[in-house]
Amino acid sequence: MTDTAPTALPCFKAPAGGCLTSEMVGAYRQEGVLILEDFVTREACDELRARALELVEAFDPADVKSVFSTTDQEQLNDRYFIESGDKIRFFLENDAFDETGRLRSTKENCLNKMGHAMHDIDPVFDRFSHNPALAEITDRLGNKDPGIIQSMYIFKPPRIGGEVVCHQDSTYIYTDPQSCIGFWFALEDATTENGCMYFIPGQHRGPLKARNYRLGEDKLTTEVLDTEPWPEHLKVAAPARAGTLVVFDGRAPHMSGPNLSDTSRHAYTLHVIDRNCHYPAENWLQRGADLPLRGFAARA
Ligand code: FE2
Repeated sequence: MTDTAPTALPCFKAPAGGCLTSEMVGAYRQEGVLILEDFVTREACDELRARALELVEAFDPADVKSVFSTTDQEQLNDRYFIESGDKIRFFLENDAFDETGRLRSTKENCLNKMGHAMHDIDPVFDRFSHNPALAEITDRLGNKDPGIIQSMYIFKPPRIGGEVVCHQDSTYIYTDPQSCIGFWFALEDATTENGCMYFIPGQHRGPLKARNYRLGEDKLTTEVLDTEPWPEHLKVAAPARAGTLVVFDGRAPHMSGPNLSDTSRHAYTLHVIDRNCHYPAENWLQRGADLPLRGFAARA
């Protein structure tokens, strides 16, 4: 790691079948992030967005006792969140409700995210997620026995889509040894105006700075492992057209700004671990025995 960070992140046209070249693998190892344009078609993005909106249609905000925010500790002690690892649940933005307690906008424009097992439960999300090209990427990055541990649909709605502060995903998806890889799909164009991601390249080669885990049944805590602040002045924007896939190391620090624009910024993420690594029982994200961890193979 140096103080002279690149001003652009490694970005390539998506290789056929996920067959990363040695240059792509090298860039990923160096920077902790790899942007692959046109990885999926716009039609595939639109199909997933349409399915997400159908699921939202069936969601009643009155049932939700939770909002999700990485700047707010409230959700950390919330069973609705903690129990969502093998379900499809909905998390509203902090500013979802107006002063009178009503939603400010349509449901999809008040939601922060949906998670965390659409890829196993919903047939449309299942098909999108179990993609042989993702298996190929994972294999070329050295994970020989991947398991898709979670999926998230990120709404980042216009005007109230919240900021996500700088973090590492391995803080939440910890394995021993660390093996988390993030796959982030732009389903709509992500820009610096509507809250695209930023990465601090190369910092994944440093340590994991925090670890989040369960304290008993329904409490979570975050233990700070390294108090050195992130060099956020070295962050680099990752704008992404719809269909782009961003692959990143679980230790790659990243963040996104608030969406202050008039357009939404829908994205879909998968997190993958290596099943040969130990997955601790104290990780917040757990699934029941009736929903075993799967790799990228389609259902038989
Ligand atoms: Fe993240």
